[in-house]
Amino acid sequence: MHIQDNYRRPLLSLRISLTSRCNVNCFYCHRDGIVPSSGEISADDVKNICSVAADLGVKKIRLSGGEPLIRSDIVEIVEGINDVGFRDISITTNGTLLEEYSGPLKDAGLDRVNVSFDTLNPETYRFITKRDYLERVKSGIKSAVDAGLYPVKINMVVLRGVNHHEIWDMFDFCRENGAVLQLIELLKTDNCPDGMDRYHCDMNRIEEKLSRMADEIRTRKFMQDRKKYYIGDGEVEVVRPMDNTRFCANCTRLRVTPDGKLKPCLLRNDNLVDTGEALRNNDTEMLRRLFLEAIGRRSPYYHQDG
Ligand code: GTP
Ligand code: 5AD
Repeated sequence: MHIQDNYRRPLLSLRISLTSRCNVNCFYCHRDGIVPSSGEISADDVKNICSVAADLGVKKIRLSGGEPLIRSDIVEIVEGINDVGFRDISITTNGTLLEEYSGPLKDAGLDRVNVSFDTLNPETYRFITKRDYLERVKSGIKSAVDAGLYPVKINMVVLRGVNHHEIWDMFDFCRENGAVLQLIELLKTDNCPDGMDRYHCDMNRIEEKLSRMADEIRTRKFMQDRKKYYIGDGEVEVVRPMDNTRFCANCTRLRVTPDGKLKPCLLRNDNLVDTGEALRNNDTEMLRRLFLEAIGRRSPYYHQDG
């Protein structure tokens, strides 16, 4: 069974932000759309939320943050979701703690991981994150591949004048290490008001070049019609989060904030549904009703803007 929203988009994916805390500080970060929140839902709460999502037809669970590996119960959380029966469990992480966690998370039932990693240059890494964790992240990526997490995707937000000239070096790094490169268009964010003027990069030009080089191009249906370019033994996926025809029109996800609110859209904070009471009372029926309420509140963000 698949529930559809009012725009006939099926709900296939749940994205749970486990914490607003993060150990890096990327200047462009949209913080997964979460406002700093009081408290964090427990591993049991996550499991209960995922059970209801499974009943409603959700197929994929993604854990994000802040930085989700900061949670000391991250392995327990993944185990709980695995117990519910999900077969596509993934984490988006900055990779700084991955070396320690790849093995235990794989054993707990994690399927795959996306690592935010924008540059191979230590100075650029420091400029973007305000930290010196570049080598740690590289080791983390290698450990994820070695642990059998598959695919390991490298999320590279393309920033004009900062890292756009590194795309092909990053492509080589990914190929050499058995990872997939995911090039991401910069999305506007309140944290970096002048970001679009200063750093936004024309993704059409990048996709044109990829098209010329690719041996094969595929389109991911129900994944925002993203294009995947196969070049030799490497793979590049392009994410265009500001493109309604590709992104919002094909969005199949609902979000959960660290304090347990259902969030119908990354870019909106005015239509959240609080699950606090249902979680406290272990009330599955109420939780299900709240899910339906949140699904009903979903509307494509860029739809209004054309
Ligand atoms: P998979 O393809 O399943 O691996 O997931 P993903 O690539 O969507 O997850 P990831 O966390 O790596 O996010 C990739 C990019 O998509 C990031 O730049 C996010 O900002 C962007 N993104 C994720 N969710 C949304 C959303 O709901 N709306 C918009 N506009 N962008 C989003
Ligand atoms: N625009 C595009 N992508 C972003 N991310 C964070 N902030 C932005 C932004 N402003 C990406 C990071 C992370 C993913 C969850 O979102 O690369 O991997």
